[in-house]
Amino acid sequence: MKIKSADFVMSNSSVASCPSDPIPEYAFIGRSNVGKSSLINMLTERKSLAKTSGRPGKTQLINHFRINDNWFLVDLPGYGYARVSKKDKKTFQKYITEYFLKRKQLISAFVLVDIRHDPQPIDLNFMEWLGENSIPFAIVFTKSDKLKPNAIERQVKAYLKTMTEGVWEEAPLHFVTSSLKSAGRDEILDYIGQINSD
Ligand code: GTP
Ligand code: MG
Repeated sequence: MKIKSADFVMSNSSVASCPSDPIPEYAFIGRSNVGKSSLINMLTERKSLAKTSGRPGKTQLINHFRINDNWFLVDLPGYGYARVSKKDKKTFQKYITEYFLKRKQLISAFVLVDIRHDPQPIDLNFMEWLGENSIPFAIVFTKSDKLKPNAIERQVKAYLKTMTEGVWEEAPLHFVTSSLKSAGRDEILDYIGQINSD
């Protein structure tokens, strides 16, 4: 799929005020600093459409971007950032949870995990929660430029094995990406394009 336009629409802290357009929506979620905002910029080829930072906790709201005038990409705050105050953590958690449970337009979540890290309970628990609530998701392994090809393969295999040895009967759909190198771009866009045209 080609990206012809990518426009920031609005930021919200409540699902009720998110855009009401009944168009397909895909949301990026994962730990703080995993590369959610960078991935949105990589996919859209817009350098600073979504705000990124070397410091975790940059994205703090639900951000809607309208793509090709007929679907949304959504950038969400990260979870699991230790330095956010307890009160802020609760607030984030509340509206992230609310977003996933209430957003009818949501077609699929993309759960981002850093390819260098072994499976973390916080991510596994979050995916389990998505599963329990019948929210479709795919895994996106980020920052693949940090590893050599054989290490990438090893990490992905081990990650999916942990999942199938856990609560999952089958390994979920997954993508290997690098926002630095634009790796995985065609695969993710083709996947979204295929769903949108069904
Ligand atoms: P929060 O909004 O804080 O939750 O973070 P985020 O998940 O949106 O991460 P963001 O895109 O802001 O990126 C965090 C840091 O990781 C930045 O310093 C990025 O430059 C870096 N980064 C993101 N993607 C990649 C990648 O593919 N490769 C490398 N090497 N660095 C990356
Ligand atoms: Mg961000």
